[in-house]
Amino acid sequence: MTIKSPKKLIEVALPLDAINTAAAREKSIRHGHPSTLHLWWARRPLAAARAVIFAQMVNDPGYQQGGGFRFGVNKEKAQAERERLFKIIEDLVQWENTNNEEVLERARVEIRRSWREVCELNKSHPQAAELFNPDKLPAFHDPFAGGGALPLEAQRLGLESYASDLNPVAVTINKAMIEIPPRFAGLPPVNPEARNEWLGDRNALSGMDRLAEGNGFGQGDLSVSSAAAERGNLPEALDEMTRGGVNSPVAPVDLSQAIIGPGMAIFSQYAAVLEADGSPMRVKTALQLINRFLAEDDFDHDTQFCLHWFEQQGWATGKYGEADVLARAKGTSVGGLVEAGVVESAKGELRLLKWAEMPRDWSPETDARLPIWEALHQLIRALNQDGESAAGGLLARMPNLAEPIRSLAYRLYTLCERKGWAEEARAYNELVTAWSAIEQAAGEAGVVGSQGQLEI
Ligand SMILES: C[S@@+](CC[C@H](N)C(=O)[O-])C[C@H]1O[C@@H](n2cnc3c(N)ncnc32)[C@H](O)[C@@H]1O
Repeated sequence: MTIKSPKKLIEVALPLDAINTAAAREKSIRHGHPSTLHLWWARRPLAAARAVIFAQMVNDPGYQQGGGFRFGVNKEKAQAERERLFKIIEDLVQWENTNNEEVLERARVEIRRSWREVCELNKSHPQAAELFNPDKLPAFHDPFAGGGALPLEAQRLGLESYASDLNPVAVTINKAMIEIPPRFAGLPPVNPEARNEWLGDRNALSGMDRLAEGNGFGQGDLSVSSAAAERGNLPEALDEMTRGGVNSPVAPVDLSQAIIGPGMAIFSQYAAVLEADGSPMRVKTALQLINRFLAEDDFDHDTQFCLHWFEQQGWATGKYGEADVLARAKGTSVGGLVEAGVVESAKGELRLLKWAEMPRDWSPETDARLPIWEALHQLIRALNQDGESAAGGLLARMPNLAEPIRSLAYRLYTLCERKGWAEEARAYNELVTAWSAIEQAAGEAGVVGSQGQLEI
């Protein structure tokens, strides 16, 4: 018997501007945000996750018939009703309302109402008692949960939430966000003894324990032993390799080889890693997956534009119209990019400025718009024109940007290598190879180390 399913709000309309604005704003929120729990390179904004789940759970009020049922109200009423639902979304996506029970409850009421409507439409379904119980919302499962934005928000909206992932780091993050906090909700602080007792009671664990089971990768146990977490934490391993620590940093030219170690350790935890068609995954494909850890959206908007444009056009001139569309998609504008000093735009065209074209008298302290892209290329300019100590002197004047500059150099190196752009690749490789010397020179110029403020 076919299931009668009215269109969902998400299929008809969404207040995109409100969602976009809230999602963009969230990027700069640090306190209380899951991004501070553990770095996750492909983290999605909670605002977008919250809005999307709500709009998928709520029925669109518009009239529809066919498929064996009629549903909804006439055009005017439906529009008014949609505006009411939009208002809920607009309130829901605000960071300040993340734990606002009044706002959340308004959303949950709508979700429950829509679910009851669906149950009513399907009450003659042979398995109605099991599948369409108006008092029990369907559970939510994100099989590729990553940083957990979706299961976290599903739980917030009142759904029973399940998450799984092949990466043990993602599993740990999800456990810490979704499984553990609800178990503490309303409890007084516990002493160590009581805590041990409580931890011993495995039966009390919620459904998130399924994270550790049945993931379809042979061995199957993704439970987070510290060894697995250590071996599985690819971003951290990458960071160690590129930073150097006790050893010297891995030069970008060697990175794709070096990455095989920790990257493949994740894969080798399982008896076999399979492609979607069941065939064994090739090392090359695995490496491509691993490389995705170097995510684009960790950079500022101007840099995201430059990265994307560079990948498409290199240093060549392109059409203004295309640049304009890309700039908007990346949350910036052509005017802003010109102001930032990373592009030149004239006569309906645009191109990225090469490092050699960047001004020698540039001052990071007085630059009001300073994308990482600009900082990196200025550093390359200083290194190539004036040597390591000049580059160190420049880095000392923007110590908080050291880490993102270094990551961007790695990323650009990988990109150029993939594209076969040897000349460009060399500039980025040289910067990273000289990194320790540049940092040392920066230290001598008055800055110790390159770490910014420690955020707690
Ligand atoms: C783009 S991320 C998800 C991001 C997530 N929505 C968030 O907000 O952070 C995709 C995830 O899928 C996982 N993944 C990829 N292939 C998988 C598979 N075959 N089984 C389970 N997880 C997989 C990856 O480990 C990664 O964490």
